[in-house]
Amino acid sequence: MKILITSGGTREKIDPVRYIGNYSSGKMGAALADAFAAHGAEVKVISGPAEVHYRVPMQRVESAREMLSVVEESLPVDIFISAAAVADKRPKYYSADKMKKESFENIELVNNPDILRTIAISAKRPKFVVGFAAESENHLENARKKLTKKSCDLIVLNDIKALGSDENEVWLVSKTSEKKLEKAPKKEIAEEIVKFIMGQYRG
Ligand code: CTP
Repeated sequence: MKILITSGGTREKIDPVRYIGNYSSGKMGAALADAFAAHGAEVKVISGPAEVHYRVPMQRVESAREMLSVVEESLPVDIFISAAAVADKRPKYYSADKMKKESFENIELVNNPDILRTIAISAKRPKFVVGFAAESENHLENARKKLTKKSCDLIVLNDIKALGSDENEVWLVSKTSEKKLEKAPKKEIAEEIVKFIMGQYRG
């Protein structure tokens, strides 16, 4: 079984020394990769900058657009897990020269492609597609909306408090069920998520 996982955060360049990024550590993506590998799956990770070390084959990318093109090149797979914290926006213009502080007050942004949705609605859609939601309010309601909007089979919902932490507490939200996994180390949570996905995948 082939599993593709995006992990870490993306960086969107402003100029040669500045970027837009986020605090994603890549810990959840790495824990999921290990858990799938332990089940005998062939796992590939595509990661933006992250502090973790991956124990499975990994391809490093920087921006969201780069991540999308490597994901597309890596298909077909059986299961796609979109665990990366992808920057929703990027600067409209990249400045090849370092911008002087006197020369700008604002940075104009444009939308990045939605990697998860693009893959989930594509002709090469893997059989099972998993998205993540990091919410700070109306958690379940937002996760249910995301499940439909992004055409996923499952949303792994967590609170933004989990960012960078070694522990996590998640909800698994699918069209037919909602299951809470109580707070535990990310390694244990990942094992539970993988068991759930395998069960759903095999029907
Ligand atoms: N995602 C993606 N490409 C993007 C943005 C997000 O693949 N450009 C994926 C993430 O990997 C994750 C899910 O979509 O699986 C998160 O959804 P998103 O709507 O980005 O969540 P938020 O960033 O929390 O969005 P919002 O602020 O609108 O709630």
